[in-house]
Amino acid sequence: MVVTRQRGWRVHTEAGGIRMGYDMEGNGTPLVLLHGFPLNRAMWRVQVAGLRDRFTVIAPDFRGFGDSEIPRNPMSMDAYAQDVLALLDALGCPRFALGGLSMGGYVAFRVMALAPHRVCALLIADSRAEPDTEEGRQRRRAAIARIENEGPAGYLEDFAGQLVGPTTRSQRPGVVQAILEIIGTPPARSLTTALSAMASRPDSRPLLGDVNVPALVIVGEEDTLTPPEAAEAMAAVLPDARLVRIPAAGHMSNLEAPEAFTRAVREFLTAEFPTAG
Ligand code: MLT
Repeated sequence: MVVTRQRGWRVHTEAGGIRMGYDMEGNGTPLVLLHGFPLNRAMWRVQVAGLRDRFTVIAPDFRGFGDSEIPRNPMSMDAYAQDVLALLDALGCPRFALGGLSMGGYVAFRVMALAPHRVCALLIADSRAEPDTEEGRQRRRAAIARIENEGPAGYLEDFAGQLVGPTTRSQRPGVVQAILEIIGTPPARSLTTALSAMASRPDSRPLLGDVNVPALVIVGEEDTLTPPEAAEAMAAVLPDARLVRIPAAGHMSNLEAPEAFTRAVREFLTAEFPTAG
């Protein structure tokens, strides 16, 4: 059975009942894909289409993004992770392969911290385990001030341009437009809440050595936000990890080089779960 574009499932988290948007499509081992900031689950469309014949791909919207309810209170990476776990409980999904890109990776690490027994494989793309530097926090504070003063539009346009690498910018300018379309018009509060949660996220490096499931680390070779060195550092400490570097792609490697990205995930998961589907 292929279940398509479920929306508006009501789940209950420790923070109270919230509406969460998600897609769930396909058959086989569940694969949960967590989106980057300031996007939403729509960024995974190509991966959902390319993996659903072998995996049940579940892509949630974080609170405040896509079809999920706007946060009323401050959030943390753990709170986003609890929302994801609550959704998976509501979907009857006890164990799953877990992937996240950038902010999705930060949240994936917190899922690993909260419920390591539920994760059977880990995929971290264009992300990092270390917390923000003081300079990084200052940039977040400036972004929050800009959004509060001017509204989100100018910030989103500038930020979308930074998400892709120089090759995409010069050779595939339509990708930035596509990213802006996926981003849409998230409410200012969703953006500022997520920025402040990312600024105060914990150091996930202490978790890495204890990850006892196979891991795939993917990075765009032209990623400047979470550069290849950050990916190499994670892959070196994760006990069972392989690293895939995607040429001519920046921070949004799954959208800049969708075929290469999907192929890497497919090869990794098919090797780990040869009987899936
Ligand atoms: C993302 O892509 O999720 C963000 O760029 C992450 C970040 O700003 O640290």
